[in-house]
Amino acid sequence: MRFDVITIFPKMFASPFEQGLVAQAIKEGRISLNTWDPRESAKDVHKSVDDKPYGGGDGMVMLAEILKLTLDKINSETKNFSKKKVVYLSPQGQLLNQKKAIELAQDNEQIVLICGRYGGIDERFIQKYVDEEISVGDYVVTGGELPAMILIDAVSRFVPQTLGNELSPIMESFQDGLLEEPLYAKPRNFEGLEVPEVLVSGHHEKIKKFKDIQRIKRTFEKRPDLASKASFDKNNLKEAFKELDLRKNVALGLVHYPVYNKAGQVVATNVTNLDIHDIARACRTFGIDNYYVITPMEEQLAFVGRVLEHWQTGKGEQYNPVRKDALINTKAATSIEAAIENWGVKNTQLVATSAREVAGPKPINFESMRQLAIKEPIFLLFGTGYGLENAVVRRCDYILEPIRGRSPDGFRHLSVRSAVSIVLDRLFGGCY
Ligand SMILES: C[S@@+](CC[C@H](N)C(=O)[O-])C[C@H]1O[C@@H](n2cnc3c(N)ncnc32)[C@H](O)[C@@H]1O
Repeated sequence: MRFDVITIFPKMFASPFEQGLVAQAIKEGRISLNTWDPRESAKDVHKSVDDKPYGGGDGMVMLAEILKLTLDKINSETKNFSKKKVVYLSPQGQLLNQKKAIELAQDNEQIVLICGRYGGIDERFIQKYVDEEISVGDYVVTGGELPAMILIDAVSRFVPQTLGNELSPIMESFQDGLLEEPLYAKPRNFEGLEVPEVLVSGHHEKIKKFKDIQRIKRTFEKRPDLASKASFDKNNLKEAFKELDLRKNVALGLVHYPVYNKAGQVVATNVTNLDIHDIARACRTFGIDNYYVITPMEEQLAFVGRVLEHWQTGKGEQYNPVRKDALINTKAATSIEAAIENWGVKNTQLVATSAREVAGPKPINFESMRQLAIKEPIFLLFGTGYGLENAVVRRCDYILEPIRGRSPDGFRHLSVRSAVSIVLDRLFGGCY
C-alpha cells in the first residue's frame, strides 16, 4: 500500500511513523509513505499556495491550480498504480470508521491524501479530482495532517502482516459491529477488583461465551447506536439482556387526563380500542413490560377492563393468542401517580413527550435518552387529545425532543399511536 500525502507541513509526518507497527511495515516495504509539498509547485516568489476567498469571508483558500500541479507530479511518478483513490480529509466528509478503513485497505494500491489548511481548499479541485471526502469526527482541527495520520494508521492495520498477531483486528472493537470485551492482565486482584473467575478457569468454550456476552453488554451500555446495527447470536443476546436487565427499566403511560382539547381546555379524552391495541403491540415489540392506559373516568376504566379481559382471559384469548400476548403487559391506572406507584420502581425519571416545546423540564434528545434509559428507570408519558397539560410536563424530569419529520411547513400532527412507535424505535430500535 502506498500513501502519497499532499501537505504544506511534510515534517509533521516524520515522528509518528518512526516507531510502532506502521513504522515497521514501512521499514519492511509493505507500506510506503511519501509527502508532497504544494509550495514546490507554487508559481510566485513567495511560494503562495493560498489566496483570499471570492465573496469574502474568513480564512484563506488553498489554490486549485497548485494542488493540481502537485497531484500531476504524484501521478506521473505512480503511473503503474491502477487501483488508486484521491481522498480529501475534510470535516464535511463521511466519518472514518473501521468498515471504511478496511474498504480503503482492500480496494486500493495507492491512496493520495490531501491535507487542507486555512479555511479549506478550492471547491473546484474537489469536484474535479477528489474521489472521496473523509472526516475523522464532527469537530474542526487546524489542518488535514493529523486526520491523514489517523487514516494512514487505521488503514495500514489492514494491510496484510502489518499487525504482528493476524487475529487481533478480527477480535477487536467494531469488527463485527460490537465493542471489544473488557481486558485484564496481572495481578488477579487489583485494589480489591478481581479478574472475572471464568477467565482463569482454563475452560475455553466458557471463556469464549463470556467474552461474546461481554461484547454485547458493552455495546448496549456504551454505544447503543452501534448495537442497533450489529447482528448477534440470539442465545448470547438473551444472556446479555438478562444481565443488563434492559427494558425492565422502561414504562409507558398513555395519558387521557389531564390533556388539552382543540380549544386549549383541560379535558379527559376517550380511550380508544385502537390506542390500547396498537400501543400494546408496539410496547411488546420493543420489550416495554409496563404499558398504562391512564384515565380517571370510571366508564373509561371499565371499557379498558372489558377489552383486556376479552383478550387476556375471554374469547379473544382463544381467537387470537398473539393478541393476548401483545396485551399481556397492558394495565389501566386512574392517574399518572397511580401508574408510577403500580410500577413500583424507585427513582424513576419522568419523561414527557410533546409535539410542542414546553419550558420547564430538561430537554433531552433521542440519543441522550437512549443512554439514560440504560442507566436509569424511565417512565415515558404520551398525551392524547392536543397533548399533555403544561403542568404535567413541567412536573417531569425531562421533555423528549419532538419528532420533527421533514415537512417543509413544519407539520407534525401525528396520532399518538404513530408517535409511540417512532419514539420506541428511535430509543430501542434494533435492540433485538
Ligand atoms: C480549519 S479546517 C477548515 C474547515 C472548513 N472551513 C469547514 O468549515 O469545513 C482546515 C483543514 O483541516 C482539515 N480538517 C479539519 N477538521 C477535520 C476533520 N474533522 N476531519 C478531517 N479533516 C479535517 C481539512 O483538511 C480542512 O481543509
